[in-house]
Amino acid sequence: MSKADLLKQISDEILQNEICADLRDQATQLVFGDGSIDAEIVFIGEAPGKKEDETGLPFVGAAGKFLNEMLASIGLERKNVYITNIVKYRPPKNRDPSTDEKQAFLPYLMRQLDVISPKLVVTLGRHSMEYFLPSVKIGDVHGQLQTVDTPERSWMILPLFHPAAALYNGGLRQTLLTDFAKIPRILKQIK
Ligand code: URA
Repeated sequence: MSKADLLKQISDEILQNEICADLRDQATQLVFGDGSIDAEIVFIGEAPGKKEDETGLPFVGAAGKFLNEMLASIGLERKNVYITNIVKYRPPKNRDPSTDEKQAFLPYLMRQLDVISPKLVVTLGRHSMEYFLPSVKIGDVHGQLQTVDTPERSWMILPLFHPAAALYNGGLRQTLLTDFAKIPRILKQIK
């Protein structure tokens, strides 16, 4: 089966298995992922917001605009990377996703990653970081490449702050840009 078919199968299964039916019932649609399925980098955010729920695409609101700017700062466009979220339906009123919701989507996220098989996984914010790096604080490890062994395989993880957190915090914005600037060198360093 092609990568595209495998990804379609995963998104179909999320629907068939009625994952997070409560969220699904309040959302417009599933926001599965966007970008190149052959990408070397996968970005994982938290959950769709209003704009993402309306369009079916991840990171198309204000945080997405900043993500696009950061990508451009290292010579990349959205079509060069793959972008998704740990939770794939919009939580009501943009509340934080619950532990149960994150757990419910985790096997699908891991299959999605396995199919795309990127060199580097960039987690945006603590919600997508916590499965790979459960016992660390994002403030301690942001911008530092981590090797994480899961039952499936070994992953290269770069934990970054969430772009939404930086929207109204100039200091954090600069930290994110500085961390982002490390990505090209990190990619070269990974075989
Ligand atoms: N924030 C996220 O974490 N994901 C999105 O898709 C949009 C905003």
